[in-house]
Amino acid sequence: MERPRVLSGVQPTGSLHLGNWLGAIRNWTALQENHETFFCVVDLHAITTPHDPKRLAENTLSTAALYVACGIDPSKCTIFVQSHISAHSELCWLLNCVTPLNWLERMIQFKEKSIKQGENVSVGLLDYPVLMASDILLYDADFVPVGEDQKQHLELARDIAQQRINARFGSNKENNILKVPKPLILKMGSRIMSLSDGQRKMSKSDENESSRINLLDPPELVRKKIKRAKTDPHMGLEFGNPERPEAENLLGIYAILTNKTQDLAQKECSEMGWGKFKPLLTDATISALEPIQEKYKKLRENPEDLYLILNKGKNKAEETAQNTLYRVRKALGFLSP
Ligand code: TRP
Repeated sequence: MERPRVLSGVQPTGSLHLGNWLGAIRNWTALQENHETFFCVVDLHAITTPHDPKRLAENTLSTAALYVACGIDPSKCTIFVQSHISAHSELCWLLNCVTPLNWLERMIQFKEKSIKQGENVSVGLLDYPVLMASDILLYDADFVPVGEDQKQHLELARDIAQQRINARFGSNKENNILKVPKPLILKMGSRIMSLSDGQRKMSKSDENESSRINLLDPPELVRKKIKRAKTDPHMGLEFGNPERPEAENLLGIYAILTNKTQDLAQKECSEMGWGKFKPLLTDATISALEPIQEKYKKLRENPEDLYLILNKGKNKAEETAQNTLYRVRKALGFLSP
């Protein structure tokens, strides 16, 4: 029996934070046991907003190293860099030509990002979801683990595959060209919020450094950031009180990091003031990050190992991607070279 296939990716913009880990990468490690998994560093997506060419390669490498440091096992998963497989850009072009412009114009993330960016919005930013659809469709993914905020992009990938490729160019229902993927929205930890505002997602692009804990932050910095984290005037930590988003978020992080159920964490902290809770959360965070940072350091000290992993990933990914690209080219009627 073939295992269901999973693909996901994270952008190599700056350093990964607690939200990337708990919301995404940590869930991938659970999937690698009984799925066929492809995890990519989506560096082509990283240039859809202005970027620093001096840092792109280093960010790509450090993101890949963090995947492995977080427990993504290269002997079980295919770990690769998106731009190393030219099929991503090629399929993106083919899909561009069948995707209606207004599907892209109504994407929430595009609207938000383009408002933030003002006048210099690139065609790439608009096209971001088609490139993401290419990432997914190239690998015949059955499931795509994503956060709530990426659901609309996944729906677009499904619509492109089903309505724009299979329905138009497939010869019959059995003979589908592209596999239609399903979202895998993981509940627990899927929304880690900012430390400075419990109603906003923890984000790499937040100007306030203290709003997020980066996976490579040294213990002293973690301590400082949690000390500064926004609180509220109530006593006792609790879940489910809409007036207390900060309690919800920080208690949630605490529960995940200490491997406790929400009930158990809530019981433990229900009578604690913030002054007592914060040091607990700080210790839990520091000890959860310690093994990741250690492993990361080792990987970066022996870059050959990392290059080997990415090269092996590239070869495996390439084979699968070229197969799919061939099917699409053929269905669209291109002359074979
Ligand atoms: N857009 C995703 C994000 O910001 C990253 C991404 C790019 C992705 N391609 C993907 C996620 C393919 C899953 C599958 O989180």
